[in-house]
Amino acid sequence: MLDRLALNNRSYRRFFEEEPVDLATLRELVALARLAASARNLQPLRYILCTDRHTNAAIFATLAWAGYLKEWPGPAEGERPAAYIVVLSDTAGAVPTYVGIDQGLAMQNILLGAVERGLGGCILGSIQRGRLREVLAIEDRYEILAVLALGRPRETVVVDPVGPDGDIKYWRDADRVHHVPKRSLDELIVAEV
Ligand SMILES: Cc1cc2nc3c(=O)[nH]c(=O)nc-3n(C[C@H](O)[C@H](O)[C@H](O)COP(=O)(O)O)c2cc1C
Repeated sequence: MLDRLALNNRSYRRFFEEEPVDLATLRELVALARLAASARNLQPLRYILCTDRHTNAAIFATLAWAGYLKEWPGPAEGERPAAYIVVLSDTAGAVPTYVGIDQGLAMQNILLGAVERGLGGCILGSIQRGRLREVLAIEDRYEILAVLALGRPRETVVVDPVGPDGDIKYWRDADRVHHVPKRSLDELIVAEV
């Protein structure tokens, strides 16, 4: 059921790092991204897939995790992602007008596919892009849009209603359960005609 997949498709930031995710699985996930809608059907997105331990470590060093969790430096060794998909835009073709929308749709397909396979992930936009470009020897023609971190989740993430104070910051409780406040349906729907 899509309802369940959408609910379970949370941003996971701790993983069973020792459980490998193979390249064939990453290819299946990009096959889902391939089917996403694309403005003017330009399909400007490109992907770098990585499951290699050493390269994973180098990618990890370019990322910033969970900005609201000030005391948490990010996943420790052993709970880092087992794989990454780097999402690029090929700037060589026609200038895409809505690359951000293409990107979101593609990433959501990838993440839903990951959840269906018992995996989970996190979108990372906070990237040291220059450093990542060097790590992966990414040609100038490609713009780095985002990194998807993937693996089998090693944390529980729950969705809570936004409280009366309106705070939308995610937080962790004493059991390290990650809480994500989501606005109510009534707050989202401006009008029903
Ligand atoms: C465009 C985008 C960029 C994001 N960048 C980061 C990031 O750099 N680091 C991070 O830890 N989480 C990042 N996230 C994850 C968000 O923090 C997360 O989606 C939000 O807290 C809500 O949690 P949820 O995905 O479980 O609903 C990003 C999410 C999106 C959509």
